[in-house]
Amino acid sequence: MDDQIIETKYISVENSSNFEGKIREAAKILLAGGIVAFPTETVYGLGANMFDENAVRKIFMAKNRPADDPLIVHVSGVDMVRGIVEFIPATGLRLMSRFWPGPLSLIFKKSAVVPDVVTAGLPTVAIRMPSHPVALKLIEIAGVPIAAPSANLFEKSSPTKASHVMQDLSGRIDAIIDGGTTNIGIESTILDLTSKPPVLLRPGGIPLEALEEEIGEIALHPSVHGRKFNDTIISPGMKSRHYAPNAMLILIEKQKEDAIEKAFELASEFRASGKKVAILLPEKPANVKGFIIRALGSDDKQIARNLFDLFRQMDEEKVDLIIACGTREHGLGLAIMNRLRKAAWKIVK
Ligand code: TXA
Ligand code: MG
Repeated sequence: MDDQIIETKYISVENSSNFEGKIREAAKILLAGGIVAFPTETVYGLGANMFDENAVRKIFMAKNRPADDPLIVHVSGVDMVRGIVEFIPATGLRLMSRFWPGPLSLIFKKSAVVPDVVTAGLPTVAIRMPSHPVALKLIEIAGVPIAAPSANLFEKSSPTKASHVMQDLSGRIDAIIDGGTTNIGIESTILDLTSKPPVLLRPGGIPLEALEEEIGEIALHPSVHGRKFNDTIISPGMKSRHYAPNAMLILIEKQKEDAIEKAFELASEFRASGKKVAILLPEKPANVKGFIIRALGSDDKQIARNLFDLFRQMDEEKVDLIIACGTREHGLGLAIMNRLRKAAWKIVK
């Protein structure tokens, strides 16, 4: 089953005059038990009808995703939430009315209709209402909640373009809807509302500060700051490597000028030992030659949008080592640093 190749239908809604017809076609595939990749405002998702256990299992197989990693359920409105949770706490209602549709996944106690494969046997379920018109229309037309992880192979970075999805999953999924490049570029914020105070499990598209402003105290899961280190250069902790490019990634966590200086110092060292090295800086310096340099972006919005695409570009260019400069852990920066630290082979402070 696992290595059986299926034909992946390519459906483009970019500049299409028949938007609704195309989405209808994709919804039909979902309702027939297929799995379909689709754009959201964060990253591309790989969806199945949440009620169809077989279809949900296909998602895990296509991604090589371990069965103990639960999926996020995507809905087209608050009414759809009511059917799949035990109850919605007051904080949930406030957050939904302020941040939905948008990049915020909320965790509730699940109702009995949610199959165990979706939640990996947990008594809770993560739910979000995406704001991307393709995602919303797809859920609306299908008329069922769509369980969907990011549409990448396990441990690879999340796809922000249809071409990324095709690289990873072509021949393994039934269809993909191409809706262009995703706007935010990193995944949704995940907040657990079943604990008191609520716990931030994953920083993402909605900043922690905005959530706190709405509901007050929020506890942080230890993984939010990525891995924590004290030394200057740390030994690799390969196990928790995630969102990762094939190349080894060295993350530099220093003030801007010092970070750039350190990046070039390390790049020279590794280049001298015969490695193909790329440097990711906020902006491309004007007059440096002899290094592969890419601009991450001058603000966190741009960095978030570019990060995973740059990882994949570096893989295509067969880079051995990426040296990246970090950003401040504030606003979107918290999510960016979380992804960079999880992807990192070494962190330099
Ligand atoms: O932006 C996003 O959230 C994208 C788009 C497609 O919506 N989705 C996404 O899904 O990033 P995924 O599967 O790559 O990450 C979802 C994470 C899982 O790794 C899991 O740890 C967490 O959400 N999660 C899901 N259900 C959970 C639950 N009941 N309790 C705790 N964590 C949960
Ligand atoms: Mg993922």
